[in-house]
Amino acid sequence: MTKSFRIAPSILSADFARLGEEVKTVIAGGADWIHFDVMDNHYVPNLTFGPMVCQALKPHAKTPAGEAIPIDVHLMISPVDPLAAAFADAGADLISFHPDASGHVHRSIQAIKSKGVKAGLVFNPAESLDVLAWTLEDIDLILIMSVNPGFGGQSFIDSALRKIEQARKLIDASGKDIRLEVDGGIKADNIRRVADAGADTFVAGSAIFGKPDYKAVIDQMRLALA
Ligand code: DX5
Ligand code: ZN
Repeated sequence: MTKSFRIAPSILSADFARLGEEVKTVIAGGADWIHFDVMDNHYVPNLTFGPMVCQALKPHAKTPAGEAIPIDVHLMISPVDPLAAAFADAGADLISFHPDASGHVHRSIQAIKSKGVKAGLVFNPAESLDVLAWTLEDIDLILIMSVNPGFGGQSFIDSALRKIEQARKLIDASGKDIRLEVDGGIKADNIRRVADAGADTFVAGSAIFGKPDYKAVIDQMRLALA
């Protein structure tokens, strides 16, 4: 794999009373993307934030030198389309959704892309990758869940490694430039195994925001990946 790795801290585990500052601090600590977990208390049993919060954070999503840091929106909502459009307007750079949350997966992908935003599909631990046979050519990102969606701080589910390997084969066979992201239970001490299975982009919430020094954790992760 020649692609460079990306670390995407999930602000689900940040201090919500100081979100702008948290985003700035984690970017100064080396975050490549900001992962933004949207939950609706319907598709998943939890409720987080919407497009207005994304829009408010957008001006903070840049390095101290002013370089833009992508906002990686992970929709855990059903229906998908109305809020996907709102997140595109709110400054999302990538929008991923769960295929089982949309009645018309192909249409939802096209709706995201028509806004000039990258589109991704997310796979729960017990969900197969079958839909990729019909969608791979249209997407920019595959997100493999290594926990059940809804909460931070859960343990990594090992069967995700086999699914990451499968997804890597599909991506390589397609010859397309598609990111392979993994979400849930990622820490400095397992990130290498996840990369070895074929992932190139790593979401980490509690591992980073649960420690006082975000940069130290991100540095440890990069060291493990090196
Ligand atoms: C879970 C979310 C994750 C979550 C990961 O539904 O999609 O992005 O923040 O949290 P950790 O890294 O703590 O497992
Ligand atoms: Zn997520």
